Amino acid sequence: MCGIFGLISQELVSSSDVLKSLKHLEYRGYDSYGIATDTGLFEKDVGEIKLTSSNNCNIAISQTRWATHGGVTKENAHPHHDCTGNVLIVHNGIIENYMEIKENLQTLGHKFQSETDSEVIAHYFEEGIKAQNVEETISDFFNEAKGTFSVLLFIKGSDRLYAFKRDSPLVIGIGNRGFFIASDPYAFSQLTQDVVFLEDDEYAVLTKSRFSIFDKSGKELSRGKNKIELQKEESRGKYEHFMLKEIHEQPESAEKLLESLETRQKENLLAIADAIKNSQKAIFVASGTSYYASLLGVYFLKKAGIESQAIIASEFKDYANCNEALVIALSQSGETMDVIDALKHAKQGSARIASFVNVPYSTIQRMSDLSLQTEAGQEICVASTKSFSNQIILLLTIAKELGYKINLRKIAGEIKSVFALENGIRTLAHGLKDKHDIYIIGRGLSYPVSREIALKLKEISYIHAEGMMGGELKHGTLALIEKDTPVIALIDNNESIVSNVREAQARGARIIALTNRKEKLFEEEIKIAAESDAGFAILATIVGQLLAYYIAKEKGLPIDKPRNLSKSVTVL
Ligand code: G6P
Repeated sequence: MCGIFGLISQELVSSSDVLKSLKHLEYRGYDSYGIATDTGLFEKDVGEIKLTSSNNCNIAISQTRWATHGGVTKENAHPHHDCTGNVLIVHNGIIENYMEIKENLQTLGHKFQSETDSEVIAHYFEEGIKAQNVEETISDFFNEAKGTFSVLLFIKGSDRLYAFKRDSPLVIGIGNRGFFIASDPYAFSQLTQDVVFLEDDEYAVLTKSRFSIFDKSGKELSRGKNKIELQKEESRGKYEHFMLKEIHEQPESAEKLLESLETRQKENLLAIADAIKNSQKAIFVASGTSYYASLLGVYFLKKAGIESQAIIASEFKDYANCNEALVIALSQSGETMDVIDALKHAKQGSARIASFVNVPYSTIQRMSDLSLQTEAGQEICVASTKSFSNQIILLLTIAKELGYKINLRKIAGEIKSVFALENGIRTLAHGLKDKHDIYIIGRGLSYPVSREIALKLKEISYIHAEGMMGGELKHGTLALIEKDTPVIALIDNNESIVSNVREAQARGARIIALTNRKEKLFEEEIKIAAESDAGFAILATIVGQLLAYYIAKEKGLPIDKPRNLSKSVTVL
């Protein structure tokens, strides 16, 4: 992860403006940050980006970090430099063989100041440019380095900015008076819409008036520019946190998606439905929240008479046989490295790739033969909310094309009805805030929902939560149920779930039933007005999102940027 941003400009730019652009990438990592400029600024700090820097520059590089190698300290924050202080770099990714490179450099006398893998890059270039130019050293680096990297580099006194990448993303923005370069276009989307994406094993040399792209052997490449339109979310409006705002945006984002699937995205929708129908097998691949959505995809496709499977991206290579398969990636960011890695593996065989992504122009979308957008709008809070419901709606629409009977016309209204329950959820949150463990159980389509609610509780409220199949409780987890252990029971029309809940209740569990059934089954119940099973999945998830939110709020936690996490996970 980490976000990197740099610029080279004919006009002087203030370092606080550079950091403002970097701030748009903070969702990629926010434990520390830093900036270096051609006019001598070298500033870094732990914590979130502060915009107080004041320096004017023509070249700048900056980074917001999610620590991988080395703790969260000022020394480990980027930028890093070589022994002379002249070679300055920022890096996103992991140099897997950094120890080997470091030891070689140490035998040549290099002294290191941080515990990071990234610092070796600066020293590597210090050594390289003693005998050859920067471009030749970049080619050597491509051949020697293992792992993932996107790097911005400049050398004090030079008027060039260099960028090179493998696996981690990099995009150039074409401005009126210079160029921007960043991990994703959100960093500069308010400044330009003209972009050029760098592909793996390519590098760019940028001056104030032009830039050129080369392959790793130094052969110049021609590359057309793309015009992108990104809807950038800047403000929380009346909401205290982006999470609450994004939860409340779900009725509108659902409608926006449904509308696009009937118009702009109709052709792609039909193409993907067709590809699923005609594929020998359909395999979903995703991580985190998107994985739980893809489990629901398997459920909905099964209802439409189509067999599919969902495999978690980080284990894909060992569990999926994707020859002749249609591999369907689900990803909010479109940048999750586990998913990208799985897709690369799938592409080596004869698989076709389809994807459902929220962030347009993302790597996963660009890797896909067919793609649909989830149209949830920019999601800022690290924990996914609105993008999950839209993934479900998208999957339902595809299943519907393939024969599943579902009416989604009322879904936005049904979602709105959950907000009427907010005060009750708040009271429940107050009562649960000091619990160490919460269990959530469901069966059938409520099983993925139980996993998603548990994930929200872990991510945002820091409560150990386990979402599980109701039927599995008796095979082990029941041993953990004591008097008053909270068990949130997702009770839809599945008959067997009630027996599973009774089993937990008989061992003293405090049952909190989340149900759309008319009859009263348990003392403590949250009734949701979902007419269909699929509606139940969405509405129950939203209750879970609100519960996690209000518990975190009661505990005074940093809701939008929970500790240790990042929204876009670009390392394996
Ligand atoms: C990270 C985020 C999760 C997200 C997962 C998958 O772990 O913190 O909230 O669900 O990545 O992200 P994606 O962008 O691929 O949906």
